[in-house]
Amino acid sequence: LGMFTYDPGYAATASCRSSITYIDGDEGTLLYRGYPIEQLAEHSDYLEVCYLLLYGELPETKQMEKFRDIITRHTMVNEDLLRFYDGFRYDAHPMAIMVGVVGALSAFYHDSTDVTDPRHREISAHRMIAKMPTLAAASYKHSIGQPLIYPDNSLGYVDNFLRMMFAVPSEPYTANPVASRALDLMMILHADHEQNASASTVRLASSSGANPFASIAAGIASLWGPAHGGANEAVVQMLESIESVRDVPGLVDRAKDKSDAFRLMGFGHRIYKQYDPRAKIIRQSCHELLNELGSTRDQPLFEIALELERIALEDDYFKERNLYPNVDFYSGIILRALGIPLSMFTVMFVMSRTVGWIAQWMEMMDDPDSRIGRPRQLYVGHSRRDYLPLDQRG
Ligand code: CMC
Repeated sequence: LGMFTYDPGYAATASCRSSITYIDGDEGTLLYRGYPIEQLAEHSDYLEVCYLLLYGELPETKQMEKFRDIITRHTMVNEDLLRFYDGFRYDAHPMAIMVGVVGALSAFYHDSTDVTDPRHREISAHRMIAKMPTLAAASYKHSIGQPLIYPDNSLGYVDNFLRMMFAVPSEPYTANPVASRALDLMMILHADHEQNASASTVRLASSSGANPFASIAAGIASLWGPAHGGANEAVVQMLESIESVRDVPGLVDRAKDKSDAFRLMGFGHRIYKQYDPRAKIIRQSCHELLNELGSTRDQPLFEIALELERIALEDDYFKERNLYPNVDFYSGIILRALGIPLSMFTVMFVMSRTVGWIAQWMEMMDDPDSRIGRPRQLYVGHSRRDYLPLDQRG
């Protein structure tokens, strides 16, 4: 191995120092800036959590007012950027659109892309947190052929997003406060999760000095995969494919079969060898939300999920490997109950996680130890050999 450690998937490599998010996977603990996720979920709101992640402390009243005001004032996006949407096919996956339009922000807001200037970094951060719901809702409106709804700055962050998603110009719209609170909670739980694949991608991309909009677009690309943020979509597809609770044991058996690539989506985690604390909160929220919304359509799916969890957790295969439900196992049920279409699930994750990516990017830019990310490799190819002209190759 020479002087390098072979560590596929970086399972044993700390690529940075960070003081943002702490996870204890054996205990099932998750802290943002030292605060337990359970307390934030119960008492805080998403924008306050954004402030905490970005600036390291909970805001005082004046600081919070100012932050809310700044984020609210940045919700519009350049009109020319909105024309990008027309260039996408009507059936484009919203994540495909997001990778494109977020990258394109760097073409519109280059007055804040001097990454050596802390003021530029802060403006870029505010812009991305503020504009992400506008871009996300527009990707949905495009996919269903409805007119884009502009932000309404008299509304809070989540209500504004729900309105841009579901309002039509011909009718008044008011978000259901129960739905709004459930979505806010989901967003808190997804806001950061230390050095996961997408956060590491953002760090690696920006370690070259690349601008933050382009780096966040790279993070979105990474989040899209089904082993990462795409899992919430895959979980609901899996649950919808199960017709009745009687079919659950068969699916669990399939997930154990090594000759079958199928895995139980929403199960297992690189770090948690315990129940994911976020999944616990979301499962409870599912109970409450489905009751409060009287959502009979989503109840059977929730029951299938609960049964799947019960059978899997009693199974030796899952016990031996410490495979528990992760954040995505129940989150899709909430999103579905809120009327969010399946193709938007991972976009919801993007919206929530943007702040985590940005907080980590800002931390990295301030860290005197950070330098360009450049992993090594174990070369296992040919040793030196000579080129043969085509006519001599047989
Ligand atoms: N179903 C069946 N078997 C599984 C599963 C699963 N969901 N997850 C892991 N295993 C098995 C795996 O086959 C391996 O078995 P063996 O030791 O016999 O070879 C063992 O458990 C360890 O798995 P691993 O793939 O080495 O673990 P990893 O840390 O590389 O992967 C993971 C973590 C989350 C990618 C994986 O558990 C998985 O694919 N889960 C399903 C997808 C999913 O829910 N992803 C969302 C993750 S949480 C939110 C997020 O990050 O965005």
